[in-house]
Amino acid sequence: MELDIKGNVKKYYGDIAKKINSGPVKGCCSGSSCCGDVSKATFIYDEESLSELPVEALEASLGCGNPLVFAELKEGEAVLDLGSGGGINVLMAAKHVGTSGRVYGLDMTDEMLKLANQNKLKMGAANVDFLKGYIENIPLKDNLIDVIMSNCVINLSEDKEKALSEAYRVLKSGGRLAVSDIITMKDIPSELRAQAGMWCKCLGGTLTVEEYKEILAKVGFKDIEVVPAQIYTKAIIESAFLQVENLEDVVKDIDLDVVDGAFAEAYIKARK
Ligand SMILES: C[S@@+](CC[C@H](N)C(=O)[O-])C[C@H]1O[C@@H](n2cnc3c(N)ncnc32)[C@H](O)[C@@H]1O
Repeated sequence: MELDIKGNVKKYYGDIAKKINSGPVKGCCSGSSCCGDVSKATFIYDEESLSELPVEALEASLGCGNPLVFAELKEGEAVLDLGSGGGINVLMAAKHVGTSGRVYGLDMTDEMLKLANQNKLKMGAANVDFLKGYIENIPLKDNLIDVIMSNCVINLSEDKEKALSEAYRVLKSGGRLAVSDIITMKDIPSELRAQAGMWCKCLGGTLTVEEYKEILAKVGFKDIEVVPAQIYTKAIIESAFLQVENLEDVVKDIDLDVVDGAFAEAYIKARK
């Protein structure tokens, strides 16, 4: 089956960004750790980190983990966030790297970029630039970035090898990759993966630990770690996924025994 993944993903996240201005929304990928309203943001991130962010950035939180926890950002570093959405991770990183550092957020969706730029203005974050583009074709020169972060985006890419090779290209030698992503823990039926909703909500395009490691090594990364942090069991799916607007429509028709333990939130680290 031919599926216009990029088109579907763009529309899905564009619609979420548009709704932010008309009130809190819910979306995306996991139960207890993801996404799309202020309460979900407070589950992923500590309250102090969130305290200075605009509420619209919190409402647009669509990640599945917190890459800042293991990115070990330092004053003066150059950071790139792949698939920056409403800008929550970028704006937090901007505080860590300070005025001598710079944080770029890259996103393909106009509505998300508009929201992110509004949030940047509200924060007065002068060390932040939001860029329009694809993670598979990063609009930055080689060897520029100290740390690449990403939160629940690489699973959405149809060409993960290209996206990760682009990440490698723009990193300085010794630069770090710090990614939160959804991964696959066991086989699921290909028809399920092929559903547009499964892709848009971060589940259809997931890699296994071994596939992730293989691609990272192939494009040149070393010191690779792919660590499942929370496995989405049937109980978690039942208790949390089904409560998430936009996600229950995908999950309600699935045999929960088939997806029991099939997905996990993972931390992915590597070095150039
Ligand atoms: C699940 S949301 C995560 C947003 C943000 N990282 C966060 O933690 O809230 C995915 C974001 O990635 C963007 N995106 C998805 N695929 C992309 C691609 N191939 N290139 C650039 N941006 C992409 C979407 O527009 C959307 O804003």
